[in-house]
Amino acid sequence: MPRRPRILLVNASLAGAAGNTAVLLTRIQRALRGKSAAETAVLAGGPDFAALRPRLAAADGFVFATGTHWDGWSSELQRFLEAATAAEATSLWVGKPAAVVVSEHSTGGKGVLSRLQGVLVTLGCSVPPLGGMVVSRAALLAAKSDRSAARDFWGLADLGVVAHNVAEAARISLPGARAATPRWRTWPVDRRDFAARWLDVPARSAQPPPE
Ligand SMILES: Cc1cc2nc3c(=O)[nH]c(=O)nc-3n(C[C@H](O)[C@H](O)[C@H](O)COP(=O)(O)O)c2cc1C
Repeated sequence: MPRRPRILLVNASLAGAAGNTAVLLTRIQRALRGKSAAETAVLAGGPDFAALRPRLAAADGFVFATGTHWDGWSSELQRFLEAATAAEATSLWVGKPAAVVVSEHSTGGKGVLSRLQGVLVTLGCSVPPLGGMVVSRAALLAAKSDRSAARDFWGLADLGVVAHNVAEAARISLPGARAATPRWRTWPVDRRDFAARWLDVPARSAQPPPE
């Protein structure tokens, strides 16, 4: 029986263990229970890349989590990635699946997610299917006031999909893993009115009277 994969959750929040990122990673860790051995590394005020290296080497997969800061990821993560460049394309990263969770107030998070996935792939990681998402305060507020209109937005339940898929990707790449078909999960997708217009035409009476 192959061992369970080890997943390292990298908390790159400016607020360390006190921020939104830590809350999201707690949910990820809960979702990983029974699928993997997960542990967290907090970058802010914690180990630098060199000190973290043995834990990165021991991991079979990663979840990177950061807030959005002026359209970018945190300075903690930037420092980490700069130091990690020395290990680019080495066995520390190559072939290991990396999931990404970004939080934001309202805008910029998807750009951070896509660029970070690109960097991780260049370091040598793989990106699992549906292995990254943005948790937006604006989207969560919208879902509270109109659940049906917000059904196509990412929500907290989707963290379970990200957690499952990174664990699954790590499981199938473990040495000695049986060549079974991976059991990926997907989140709900709006297939009915994804192209529908969502802006109302202004009412005639709201238009200024003709001169
Ligand atoms: C300096 C700073 C810049 C931020 N810039 C953005 C931004 O560009 N877009 C956005 O939607 N949210 C922005 N935010 C909000 C954070 O992304 C959001 O609160 C995130 O959840 C923070 O994660 P943390 O609590 O783990 O640090 C910013 C927050 C700070 C402190």
